[in-house]
Amino acid sequence: MKTVSIDSSKQYNIHIERGLLEKAGSLISQVHPRCKVAIVTDDNVARLYLSQVSAGLENAGYSLCTLILPHGEHSKSLGVWTKVLQFLAENGLTKSDLVLALGGGVIGDVAGFAAGTYLREIPLVQLPTTLLAAIDSSVGGKTGIDLPQGKNLAGVFCQPELVICDTAALDTLTDHYFADGCAEGIKYGLLADKELFDAFARGVDRRDMDDIVARCVEIKRDFVQGDERDMGKRQMLNLGHTVGHAIEKLSGYSISHGHAVAMGMVVMCRAAYSLGYSRENCTPPLLQALDACHLPSACPYDAAALAKAALSDKKRRGDNLTLILPLRMGECCRETIPMKDLEGFIAAGLGER
Ligand code: GLY
Repeated sequence: MKTVSIDSSKQYNIHIERGLLEKAGSLISQVHPRCKVAIVTDDNVARLYLSQVSAGLENAGYSLCTLILPHGEHSKSLGVWTKVLQFLAENGLTKSDLVLALGGGVIGDVAGFAAGTYLREIPLVQLPTTLLAAIDSSVGGKTGIDLPQGKNLAGVFCQPELVICDTAALDTLTDHYFADGCAEGIKYGLLADKELFDAFARGVDRRDMDDIVARCVEIKRDFVQGDERDMGKRQMLNLGHTVGHAIEKLSGYSISHGHAVAMGMVVMCRAAYSLGYSRENCTPPLLQALDACHLPSACPYDAAALAKAALSDKKRRGDNLTLILPLRMGECCRETIPMKDLEGFIAAGLGER
């Protein structure tokens, strides 16, 4: 088993290995005494893994209650968050009990937001079942929901007690959702590790992901440690996300997060190079890596629509927005620009001017 430790306001481990879901009960018992556990999951994940996880927890002496939500981005809503809070209250969870988020990024975000706000925070364990959740959203404590005005506009930091990443769960992902996670992996490569980038560009094997997941999590740890609340270096993890979130919003969330981030990274790479920030042209290798991972590169929206959708970007500070720009493979920088310049920036990235 590989273990990556994070030292933030809470010290916690991310365990990575095939077959860990059935050991969830015993792994949790090493960090949290017997209590009531509220498992929050979705209908797809429940069908595949709920009985296995529940049996392990019951064997370890935990008592359970389970909430199964509809799958998909639309569960990251005010209505579903309220439903989770009410479920926790109806089942009498206290501050010594635990929320277990069993699923992908949507479940981790909405269950985590409920854990972070119910009784002003109760303990949370993340059991990511998608590649995107394993290498990104289950780690670092960001939780939240979307508002009609934009993505992730309400949320709290809620660090988990433990992250249990069973890489065998990646076997059952559709090709689309496996590719979604690869986009975040390619992002880590572009940000900090050319070797990791090259591994994605060669095409990764979903049955052999332990080393890759661990490397991605280490890179995320290095950006999160020391900047848990996203005031500085953690912002680098937003590479491709300003345009990505705008694409998701404009598509009514029919374009999934990783696919949108893939397109967003291409826009940022092209803009950074054509506006003279980059020391090398990262766009050709990026296009090759996206292609190897079956991810799209062409953005279906124009610069004006994207810039308008980005007005409600949560990364905005007043009239400014910080963009993450590739300088060369494995190195990026932060560049704060006035909101009024964003459309021109995106236009350069789309090749509109
Ligand atoms: N997904 C970006 C972050 O956790 O900061």
